Amino acid sequence: MNTNGNTVLITGGGTGIGLCLAEEFVKSGNDVIICGRREEKLREAKEKLPQISTKVCDISKAKGREELFDWVVSEHKEINVLVNNAGVQRMIDFKKGITELARHENEVDINLASAIQLSAYFIPTLMRRKESAIVNVTSGLAFIPLAIMPVYCATKAALHSFSVSLRHQLKNTTVKVFEIIPPTVDTELDRGTRAERNMTYRGIPPAEVAIATMKALAEDTYELAVGQAMGLMEASRTNFTEQFGRMNH
Ligand SMILES: NC(=O)c1ccc[n+]([C@@H]2O[C@H](COP(=O)([O-])OP(=O)(O)OC[C@H]3O[C@@H](n4cnc5c(N)ncnc54)[C@H](OP(=O)(O)O)[C@@H]3O)[C@@H](O)[C@H]2O)c1
Repeated sequence: MNTNGNTVLITGGGTGIGLCLAEEFVKSGNDVIICGRREEKLREAKEKLPQISTKVCDISKAKGREELFDWVVSEHKEINVLVNNAGVQRMIDFKKGITELARHENEVDINLASAIQLSAYFIPTLMRRKESAIVNVTSGLAFIPLAIMPVYCATKAALHSFSVSLRHQLKNTTVKVFEIIPPTVDTELDRGTRAERNMTYRGIPPAEVAIATMKALAEDTYELAVGQAMGLMEASRTNFTEQFGRMNH
């Protein structure tokens, strides 16, 4: 698809992969809107990229999603690309029961329900554009889970499945459905749990994912596994048990 002249909404665009994507879209001549809960992160992003528009919102809430949609279609009428990027990742020990689960943000609402609902809100609008796209950011962990973060991996596997179905449903429309599958990326996603787990490898720079995403869009590569995520995707089809064992010993 054309990677310039679009109006692009990136959820969770104030930090990490979303912010790097915002930067790449701006460089290529697109209008960019980013959203997130923390006003200061959006302000910092706007200082870096003065051309962008920002919106404070919580897309884990039905009201937040509805308000975001209403605001975007009234203030940015040309919207034609939705990037479902916002996400959180939590380690959850189910042996500790419901209190432990309730202690964390709801990953199902943030990572999965928001992408499904925002897609439903925007698709009729996107279908009226000459060319448009939904870009879902999943994870290599959609294909082989890390059992210490069971809900995160389940949301990403579900978002992969949703992306496949959506692409099929929309195949005769102007809406292209892309899935970007990052490997471990050096961002604040884990809120420090990699350090807790003594992980010295923090992942590839988020800019690498953003650059690969722009190339995938330009070449109509609808499913892009970046770096080591490709290995996980392939292993899920050829030697799932062995790879799962290696990752979860
Ligand atoms: N980093 C990795 O290793 C990795 C690997 C594979 C896939 N991914 C995926 O890449 C995407 C981006 O993550 P990242 O690595 O760039 O981490 P990140 O820097 O933490 O970005 C996540 C963004 O989502 C926003 N967000 C979270 N909850 C939200 C909510 N309820 N409403 C609105 N915005 C919300 C956060 O902003 P606020 O907190 O201000 O709301 C933040 O800007 C995620 O979907 C993640 O699962 C990351």
